[in-house]
Amino acid sequence: MPIILAIESSCDDTSAAIIADGEVLSNVTAGQAVHEEFGGVVPEHASRAHQRNIVPTVAVALSRAGKTADDIDAVAFTRGPGLIGSLMVGVSFAKAFALARNLPLIEVDHMQAHVLAHFAEAPKPDFPFLCLTVSGGHTQLVVVKSALDQQVIGRTIDDAAGEAFDKSGKMLGLPYPAGPEIDKLARAGKPVIAFAKPDPGALDFSFSGLKTSILYTLQKKIKTEPDFVKENLEDICASIQDTIVSILLRKLTMAVEETGLTQVALAGGVSANSGLRDGLRALAEEKGWSVFIPRIEYCTDNAAMIGVTGAFKFAAGEFVGQEVAPAARF
Ligand code: KG4
Ligand code: ZN
Repeated sequence: MPIILAIESSCDDTSAAIIADGEVLSNVTAGQAVHEEFGGVVPEHASRAHQRNIVPTVAVALSRAGKTADDIDAVAFTRGPGLIGSLMVGVSFAKAFALARNLPLIEVDHMQAHVLAHFAEAPKPDFPFLCLTVSGGHTQLVVVKSALDQQVIGRTIDDAAGEAFDKSGKMLGLPYPAGPEIDKLARAGKPVIAFAKPDPGALDFSFSGLKTSILYTLQKKIKTEPDFVKENLEDICASIQDTIVSILLRKLTMAVEETGLTQVALAGGVSANSGLRDGLRALAEEKGWSVFIPRIEYCTDNAAMIGVTGAFKFAAGEFVGQEVAPAARF
């Protein structure tokens, strides 16, 4: 089995990992503080930060794994989906590294990789299983028949779950990304405010209506109680979190009923949410499902999941040539 250098640069994290025999030897991620002051990811800043970070990040990943560039057998990289300028930096680096050393290249679909993050370490689910991928850019229900055979059976028709957290938090004046802040504040509050739970039908999700519902509810309250947000911040956060989590768990339950799959996995940055983790564990106990939630390091954007996917593709002989280009959408 090969030693793979993996590169992830689809959004605002520059990440490099070394995978040997499917095992993660190192996983190094450089975040980008530059976006905090803008309240969201600014694509131009993101690609410039990737350019600054990519070489040192790869160097640290190699040294933490106790390897040198000479040990690498293949290079796996995120081809998309993501921000085109950000992807361009990782793809160009991967191609240059492979060209200089005459190594095979493996392209990876970022969403497929989030699902396969479950194979970065034990306990690993058996195929087939059901995965709810919830991140800042995506919300998907996926039937994972095998590593490289994944079928999306539900998706968001507008905002992603992480975006719902981030945009609601922005309305409350919380720093970006607001998901972790809402999570923290929610622990001290109670979900006493009812917000709308838009349902586009089937196994799909919709979160943009929730944002509007929060805005109108708060505006109405502020008319009679000007300090409503400040005085009820914890309860508001608990209510937002409870609404998003209950929408996610309802569709997940429907997906389990429709597919008959009872191994349920969480993936993506929003899996870090304590309300979602606790809610899913409680539901699983009640229904008799087995639950898989990766360590936070493997939930948020990381190159280890790209390397793990790369290892599956290496074994399947799926390589690409130097003509490969990044793709913002698949
Ligand atoms: O997977 P990820 O790191 O990047 C994307 O591919 O989008 O996910 C980032 C998203 C952000 O929207 C962030 O607010 C959300 O995950 N997030 C959380 C928590 N930690 C991260 N949302 C709710 N609760 C958390 N604890
Ligand atoms: Zn992601």
